[in-house]
Amino acid sequence: AGSHDHAAMTADAVGPPHPAVAAAAAAKFTRALPILGTQKPLARTSTTDVYASRIVDTTAEILPGVRSTVRTYDGSFSGTVVRATRGRRVLMVQTNKTSDPSSVHLHGGVTPQRWDGGGMAVIAPGKSKEYVYANTQPGATLWQHDHVHHAHAENVFRGLARPYLLHDPAQDALNLPSGEYDVPLVLRDARFDSDGQLAYVMDDAEGRSTILVNGVPWPVMKVKARRYRLRFINAANLRFFVMALSTGTPFTQIGGDGGLLPAPWQAPVIAISPGERAEVVVDFSAYPKGTVLTLDNYIGPGPMEDVGKVMAFEVGDPAPDTSTVPASLAPLPALKPAAVRRRFELAMDEPGSGGMAATINGLAFDHDRIDTTVPWGSTEEWTVVNTNATLPHNFHTHLVPFRVLSRDGKPVGLDESGLKDTVQIFPGQTVVLRLTFDSHRGVYPYHCHMLDHSDMGMMAQMKVV
Ligand code: C2O
Ligand code: CU
Ligand code: CU
Repeated sequence: AGSHDHAAMTADAVGPPHPAVAAAAAAKFTRALPILGTQKPLARTSTTDVYASRIVDTTAEILPGVRSTVRTYDGSFSGTVVRATRGRRVLMVQTNKTSDPSSVHLHGGVTPQRWDGGGMAVIAPGKSKEYVYANTQPGATLWQHDHVHHAHAENVFRGLARPYLLHDPAQDALNLPSGEYDVPLVLRDARFDSDGQLAYVMDDAEGRSTILVNGVPWPVMKVKARRYRLRFINAANLRFFVMALSTGTPFTQIGGDGGLLPAPWQAPVIAISPGERAEVVVDFSAYPKGTVLTLDNYIGPGPMEDVGKVMAFEVGDPAPDTSTVPASLAPLPALKPAAVRRRFELAMDEPGSGGMAATINGLAFDHDRIDTTVPWGSTEEWTVVNTNATLPHNFHTHLVPFRVLSRDGKPVGLDESGLKDTVQIFPGQTVVLRLTFDSHRGVYPYHCHMLDHSDMGMMAQMKVV
C-alpha cells in the first residue's frame, strides 16, 4: 500500500528478518498483553452513539525497539474497541487519512448494503463516509476490517482491523464475567523484513510466523485468580489457530461468531480460522499464585517452537468474583425448512503448481457479475465444498448468519452449534449450511476469509431481491 511496491514483492525480496524478530521469539511471554482501549463516542443521543474514526498510517512498536509502519483505525494497531449496545444505533464517520482507498466492513453485522463496506464503495483518500449500524441483532463479538477491492488482504495485514463488541442488555442477567474481566484477544500473525517493517507477500502462510495478540508478539496477560471472559478474534489472513491451555484444562466455551451458544460446553481445544470468533470463560482461581499457563497452538504452518505458542497467562492474587456461567445461555431460533439448494466449490491452484488462481464455482471474483440471486425471505441450504487436496479454506457470508448443519455428512460439534458467519473447511471437506434471507435486500459478497485467497479471486456476490 502507499509507497510500498507490493506488486513486485516476493518472499525472496523480503530478505532475512530484522534481528528483533528472533529477539521477540526468544523473549516469549515477557511482554505485557496490551489491553485495548475503548473508542470514545463523540456524542450520545437518545438513540445513537456517534463516532468519528480515522483511517491513518502511523507506527507501532510491535517488535522490541523497532517502529514499524502500520495502517490503523484511530492510530491503534489492534484497534481501539468499539463498544456498541443492542438497540442503540452507531453512526460512524470514517475519514481516510491514507493515500489509498479504503472501505470499512462490519464483519458479522447485519447491515444494509450501503454501509456494508463493499469493495467498490470506497472512501477515497482525504474523504469521509458515514456508516450506520442498527445493532438490532443479538449481542456478539463482531469486528471491523478493511474490505477494499484487491487490497483488503494487505490492508488487514497492515492493521486495519478492530473489535466491535455488541453488548446485549438482555444477557446481563446471565452474570458472565464483565468489565475488566471481559477481554478481547485479537490473534494474528506477521512477517517482517530486514528493516523490521511488515512485509506483505501474497499467500505467504509460511512466512508469517510471528504470532501477535493485541498487536504484540507472544505476550503474557497477568490475571487475577478468578473467572475471565476471553473473546478470541482470529484476525490473521491465513492462519488457523487450534488452541489449548498448557494445563490441559478445558475452556468453558460460551460463544462463537454470532454471539452466545445455546449452552456452555467444556472445550478441550478452541479452533478458529481467519474471521471466526470464540468466547470462553477460564477460571484462574483453580491455580496457585504464580502459575503460568501457556496458550498453545497445535497447527502450522511455520516453526512450531514459534507458531505453536500464542500467549501466556500468569496468575496473581485472588479477586472477588460473583460471576457465573449458567447452564443455558441464548436459545437459537428454530431452523426453517430450506426451499432452495445450492452448491459452491472452492478451488485454488495447489502450491508448487506455479499458478495463483482462486475461484468459487470456477470463476474468479468480478464485481460486475452477480453470481447468485436470492429471493428475499427464502431459506436456503448451501453446500460448500473445498475441492483442494492440501489447502484449507473457509467460507464467510456477509448479511446473514447461518447454521452449520453438517461437515462431511456428520453433525458438527457444540463449538459450531450457534449462529455462524464463517466456517472452516479443511481439504476435501464439505459443509452444509442453512441460511435465511430475511433482513436486507441488495448485493453482498461471500468469500473465503483467508483474505489473501479472497483477494486472489475466491469471492463472489449474491443479490437479495
Ligand atoms: Cu470479514 Cu467479507 O469479511
Ligand atoms: Cu464479513
Ligand atoms: Cu481459501
